[in-house]
Amino acid sequence: MCGIVGAVARDNVVPVLLEGLLRLEYRGYDSAGLVVSNNSLHRLRTTGRVAELIKLVGEQNAEGLAGIAHTRWATHGAPSERNAHPHISGTESQIAVVHNGIIENHESMRERLQTDGYVFVSDTDTEVIAHLVDYHLKQTQDLFKAVCLSIAELQGAYAIGVMEEIRPDRIIVARNGAPLLLGLGEDGNYAASDASALLKVTRNMIYLEEGDVAELVRDQYRIVNCLNNQLGEPVERVVHKSDLSNEAIEMGPYDHFMQKEVFEQPGAVANTLEMVFNAQSISPNLFGAQAESVLSDTDSILILACGTSYHAGLVAQYWLETVAGMPCSVQIASEYRYRDPIANPKTLVVGISQSGETADTLAAVSYAKELGHQYSLAVCNVAESALVRQTTLRFLTRAGPEIGVASTKAFTTQLASLLLLTVTLAKMRNKLSAEREQQMIRALRHLPAALQSSLQVEPEVEVWARRFSEKHHALFLGRGVHYPIAMEGALKLKEISYIHAEAYAAGELKHGPLALVDSEMPIVAIAPNDQLLGKLKSNLQEVHARGGELYVFADADSQIEESENLHVIRLAEHAGLLSPILHTIPLQLLAYHVALKKGTDVDKPRNLAKAVTVE
Ligand code: F6R
Repeated sequence: MCGIVGAVARDNVVPVLLEGLLRLEYRGYDSAGLVVSNNSLHRLRTTGRVAELIKLVGEQNAEGLAGIAHTRWATHGAPSERNAHPHISGTESQIAVVHNGIIENHESMRERLQTDGYVFVSDTDTEVIAHLVDYHLKQTQDLFKAVCLSIAELQGAYAIGVMEEIRPDRIIVARNGAPLLLGLGEDGNYAASDASALLKVTRNMIYLEEGDVAELVRDQYRIVNCLNNQLGEPVERVVHKSDLSNEAIEMGPYDHFMQKEVFEQPGAVANTLEMVFNAQSISPNLFGAQAESVLSDTDSILILACGTSYHAGLVAQYWLETVAGMPCSVQIASEYRYRDPIANPKTLVVGISQSGETADTLAAVSYAKELGHQYSLAVCNVAESALVRQTTLRFLTRAGPEIGVASTKAFTTQLASLLLLTVTLAKMRNKLSAEREQQMIRALRHLPAALQSSLQVEPEVEVWARRFSEKHHALFLGRGVHYPIAMEGALKLKEISYIHAEAYAAGELKHGPLALVDSEMPIVAIAPNDQLLGKLKSNLQEVHARGGELYVFADADSQIEESENLHVIRLAEHAGLLSPILHTIPLQLLAYHVALKKGTDVDKPRNLAKAVTVE
């Protein structure tokens, strides 16, 4: 989604703005722009990559001691230069605005501002903000007040950056529902959508809260909160020292962030489970100070998530029911928020999200609370995210920054965390003997090594990828707890290689999808040696008999032999409950290598964004 960078400093801020935009590229965008002020506003915009903007800056010698910059992921209006940010307004002197999020009342605001004489030159909701701020600026002659009064009129979830021609030494930023933080540096003050954008200039960060408006000049800043007062009440916010390393956000020796992140999984899972590795037993405290009392009062689980995180929830459902005997329902967040579900105050609502900023997940968790669910838990990869701030309990997946748009290490660390939740609940509900608990701890300690051995299948997967790259469709099959893994494999393939892929529970094939099977349709099957293997083999026979070409990821002891049109890659070991985590790896590798063969943009697939901060 859109990325914002702002800077006011002793020296020309353009390099900081551009570096920040490069760091935010992973969020997904289709145009980029910046404005700097040097007594007049100098704006540059392009529908190309940030590299194109860098070229424009060089050609036009853009410089300034303050500026705001933006990558736009189109929502209102096509990706075009006319719709790219910053947007400018100004009857007396000019102001410029960048914006992330959606203004829900933009249509009525647009009509009102048009009546006031404003002429719109773009199709964006952002331009409404620019004219509205200008309108209030004319009344108040003070940009800070004008921004506060404007946000009081805007509905939706957004973060904005504003600057004006006549004060080329300051920027104003505001946050309401979309992420924005301040960076406090020695040579200047900064703002950005996330910490990675500012690491080159500072590690001192302030995470703005809902309704905060901040004014930044080179050596000072002030923050007010406008939730209860239109003009804002001064507030103090804690300064955090970011411990994000440059290494964590750089590609290093890899060709793509996705490749790096796939291979980081053994380490990411080890970091996530570190507390368990050092412990002799599993304790509810892993989920927060109140966890013991909340979990002992919980009688069921409701999981809310989107995309890959939703798939993690579906795997957890099997675990929670089987191991902890806990009723569990898993809902797509964007659907749940518009239903009329029946709330149970003893249900623990679990929001799963890599970013912790996914608008639908945040809204669904809030909605569950409104309906009467009193307990919530975030399973999230970003400690300062909105999701973590809004839940009673939290468990941080310690995957490190995930920059490739396709989620990989976030998924496997979510699974590891959810298994931990399952084991914790099983223990609290007397469903887990001491011996079984020790077995689980041993299995979790072994997980990083087992993941490492799953990665060894890469050369074999690469051979398969060559055949897939010529296909237009693929089916993925799994049964039981591996059905959501088939769904995740299909999602990975479609999002980065643009091959149409669908997942089915293997037993469901004969109820319709079998009609699709012919020699042109590759069928990927996940075949662990579990209690459903016999059933799965029968389903594979149904496909084989109809000329379908099968690509099977089996466990070493699954006893599925290669034959014509039946190809098998064997994972080194059968991991019992942990099997879905291990079987994810070859599917990620398959998608990655197919995308490479097809030459698509692996890390930034078309039309997609990393943190989906709009509905
Ligand atoms: C797929 C993918 C998305 C995200 C989804 C939720 O590879 O990355 O489907 O999983 O947008 O995002 P988070 O987990 O940040 O809430």
